[in-house]
Amino acid sequence: MLPGLEPFAAAELRALRGVREPRAAAGAVRFAFAGPWAALHALRTVVAVYAVVPFAVPRPKALLGHEHLTRLLAAIAAVRRGAPAGERFASFRLGAAGEGSSVLMRLAETLARETGLAFEPETGELLLRLRRAPHQEGWEALLRLTPRPLSARRWRVCNLPGGLNAGVAAAMLALAEVRASDRLLNAMCGSGTLAIEQALTLPPARLLACDTSAAALACTRDNARAAGVTLELLQADATALPLPDASVSVVVADPPWGDAVGTHGRNRALYPAFLLEAARVTAPGGRLVILTHELRLFDEVLAQPAVRARWDSVRSVQVFHGGHRPRLWLLRRLA
Ligand SMILES: C[S@@+](CC[C@H](N)C(=O)[O-])C[C@H]1O[C@@H](n2cnc3c(N)ncnc32)[C@H](O)[C@@H]1O
Repeated sequence: MLPGLEPFAAAELRALRGVREPRAAAGAVRFAFAGPWAALHALRTVVAVYAVVPFAVPRPKALLGHEHLTRLLAAIAAVRRGAPAGERFASFRLGAAGEGSSVLMRLAETLARETGLAFEPETGELLLRLRRAPHQEGWEALLRLTPRPLSARRWRVCNLPGGLNAGVAAAMLALAEVRASDRLLNAMCGSGTLAIEQALTLPPARLLACDTSAAALACTRDNARAAGVTLELLQADATALPLPDASVSVVVADPPWGDAVGTHGRNRALYPAFLLEAARVTAPGGRLVILTHELRLFDEVLAQPAVRARWDSVRSVQVFHGGHRPRLWLLRRLA
């Protein structure tokens, strides 16, 4: 998972039957699992899930020995059997330091011959990573359970600059603790990631998405159609919303950060105006979850008396997103 999302992934795992001992490390959660793999395919905050097969060997060459090769082939067969419904693995690739080494080339040739999978070094669907075991002697093979990363959502048929990573969107929605009774607004929705992720997990009583850009709304519409979900779309300025006071209970947004979208200069006016308008349309006790890389500006805005009077800053979490270290904030609407 993206660094920073470990607690969200661990919480998602703990909610699954058959998961034991989830342990978070940097950018990963290791766990034991005894359950149907389809449950793992449905995880939303992770980039990918791997089966880990440990080998007590001093170097990868030993994997070519009969006993280890048999275990590795059995693990590959299990991953192929467990492919998500409607998907299959036709090829594989290796991910390891020294990928071009003669030993790894021999391993690739052997696996291709024994499994019938085509070896495609760049695009192979079954990703097999080899690395030194992090906590003990030996090596481990990591086999990705799905042909595509889980974070590459199938519904995404339209992309826009500054598009939100779907795993980060899922974490934001978890932070907002959205319930079926909520009325949720995804302000500045862009390609619609937050609204669509929510519609797919738990459609709230009302689900609105707004953006000033007609192109962004068209993109959201295409993605929503591909996801098979329905959203109420508004072409509207998030600083002057066509919504009554206290008409929503949750607002989620990743406003422009001033690099891929918008400018730092415009953000100085946008951020305080948005927080005040979001406060107007949010009922007391409601939540605002916002992701931004404008860290100093956001701190300044939160400290403004008019904003402090309306929003209580409950929690903030730093995440890794597209080479940046933005923060997620959970704010609660004061009465
Ligand atoms: C970072 S993008 C959002 C990305 C989106 N979450 C996604 O996954 O594609 C910011 C969006 O805010 C929109 N925007 C900027 N200023 C706005 C405003 N005042 N009111 C509404 N939308 C605005 C932009 O058109 C852009 O689509």
